[in-house]
Amino acid sequence: MKRKLMLATSIIAVSVMSVAFTSDQQTKPWPVPDKDAKTPNAVKADKGSLTAGKALWNLHCASCHGKTGIGDGSKSAQLNTTPDDLTKGTAQSQSDGALFYKISQGRSDMPAFKKKIPDAEDIWNLVNYIRSLKK
Ligand code: HEC
Repeated sequence: MKRKLMLATSIIAVSVMSVAFTSDQQTKPWPVPDKDAKTPNAVKADKGSLTAGKALWNLHCASCHGKTGIGDGSKSAQLNTTPDDLTKGTAQSQSDGALFYKISQGRSDMPAFKKKIPDAEDIWNLVNYIRSLKK
């Protein structure tokens, strides 16, 4: 009886510790090659682009990044790295080219979308949509 209680206590202790560890994990700086960071946005952020970007966002991105980009998507709790708030901070201060690069290439929990979204115009539509989420 006592042993079972000890076992239960240690299991609880270990799970509390691992939760503390995961939530402590910060996203590391994500370097973007100069050439990519300097690539100019090829698509004007007009109504058509934003509408297309929004549709792609809701289909492919909102599950992790949340509908408004703050990172509260339904899948985000299961990830090892929590997505940063895309509405401000480093996400908004980097160039359009850098955002394009990250969406195409992915890293760890962030999937690479260059195969799933093969048309570069669609990735630019997403970049334009992310800009429209800026607070
Ligand atoms: C399975 C969850 C998941 C999905 C789906 C997802 N992302 Fe991400 N995303 C992440 C995570 C986690 C990070 C942080 C990755 C890191 O820094 O290692 C991230 C990072 C990013 C970044 C870089 C942010 C920064 O601060 O530099 C951008 C831009 C981005 N995602 C856009 C998108 C777009 C656009 C889509 C949809 C086409 C998408 N993501 C779909 C999880 C996801």
